[in-house]
Amino acid sequence: MASFQKHVNHELSPMACPVDLDDVDLFGVGAQEHWYEAYEILHRESPVFRIEGGGITPGTDAYVLTKFADVDMVVKDPVRFPSLTARRIAALAEQGLTAEEAYASNHNLMQTSMMSLRPTQELYFKHRRELTDPWVGPGALRHRDMIAQHANDLIDEWIDDGDVEFISRFARPLPQRVMSSILGFPQEDIPQLAAWGDAAVTPFVHGTGLKHEMTPEQTEDMIARLDGFQDYIYEQVKAKRLDPQDDMVSFLCSVTYEALDRKLTDIEIAGIVHAMILGGLETTQYALEEQAQLLCENQGVYERLRGDRSLLRSFTEETMRMRAPTHGLSTRTTANDEVLQGVKVPAGSLLHLRFAAANVDEEEFECPYELDLERERLTRHVTFSAGPRVCPGATLSRLEQQIAWGTLLDRIESIEYGDDNDWMHQPGIMLGTLRLNLRFGKADVPMSLGTGR
Ligand code: HEM
Repeated sequence: MASFQKHVNHELSPMACPVDLDDVDLFGVGAQEHWYEAYEILHRESPVFRIEGGGITPGTDAYVLTKFADVDMVVKDPVRFPSLTARRIAALAEQGLTAEEAYASNHNLMQTSMMSLRPTQELYFKHRRELTDPWVGPGALRHRDMIAQHANDLIDEWIDDGDVEFISRFARPLPQRVMSSILGFPQEDIPQLAAWGDAAVTPFVHGTGLKHEMTPEQTEDMIARLDGFQDYIYEQVKAKRLDPQDDMVSFLCSVTYEALDRKLTDIEIAGIVHAMILGGLETTQYALEEQAQLLCENQGVYERLRGDRSLLRSFTEETMRMRAPTHGLSTRTTANDEVLQGVKVPAGSLLHLRFAAANVDEEEFECPYELDLERERLTRHVTFSAGPRVCPGATLSRLEQQIAWGTLLDRIESIEYGDDNDWMHQPGIMLGTLRLNLRFGKADVPMSLGTGR
């Protein structure tokens, strides 16, 4: 057990720490507090962990994959390991329906965005290249100044205080402001958008088990909290069709989706906006808050970064490897019978990909719990997944993190933990610290080496 102590970031948690395989329950209440200890046990004793009855259909099983080699292989091979979405589309085809027909007017925005515009792998690529890449993929680089401005505005609010609750006053509002600017939504609507964003991620936070299952009451509550979201997007779309601006929603209103040789409908635009709000807010927030903790826990790194900004990229990649915001997703299946790590996995099984565990697999990453800015091939981690369905917002998130820390390094000369931290996490599948008080030293003369002022 001694080795665990070195990488536990939540020693104060009252939750029981797993000691052997029988104790491991990745989805139980409070499991977040000791996920990393559980991964060490799973890597050693059960790297492909069967969850009996956890499969897609009754009587089938699910398998938790924790080894880097397995997760990396699965996400890169959509033929052997089709996504759940691909399975649903195949099931529709058996009923003689195309996904476009089935979802073109479906009012479940999640399904619309996942299915109607990109039912095949080819269309998936085109969807990304034509519709999202220009704004949150490689095209995100155009947002550099806007992101720095938001970061500086937020820091202005507390720079003279000497301490700050970092999550509510920086890590959470920054991605919200950035995403609103990209979409072209008024900044004063952010509180309402944030509330809808919170509602949209309910399954990933309050759902239980590896399929994020919700009770009927939870589902009803989520629907009630999402009330107005769709109408809000439609109003925005209507306004931007009349008076287009330089923003993503105006772009989506006017673009001809070449893959289908037509313009997008309002509901399709709403589906894309929903995906941006769902994927683009909390994930980057969690990355920033874990990075702050790793800086407090690894003495000397903050000073090193202040002295050499070329290390910022290594820092954000290495910390995302060590503390992946999305710990796991149950989104792939097996097309054939497979044998993974010596475990037979029948065709039609559900695979839970444990990205965070793969990232600390010592067979892939030497001394995985050490923050090593000189680590080779740092970006091979699977925090954003990998392969053809890799996260479409990865470029934006990377940029946001680098600019956020560049700006903080400019204006703050030191940070450390403040008082009253208990390092407890929200429930669900994301690694979200609930509160993070930091004490900091304001830089006498703000540096201008980074992307700040
Ligand atoms: C640190 C931040 C982020 C992390 C850790 C993250 C992680 C992930 C992961 C693991 C997936 C699943 C990929 C797969 O199935 O193989 C994903 C998908 C997705 N992400 Fe991200 N993401 C982040 C930021 C963002 C941002 C900023 C956006 C939007 C601008 C975004 C939008 C999406 C969308 C729309 C999908 C679904 C793609 C699909 O339908 O297959 N993400 N992300």
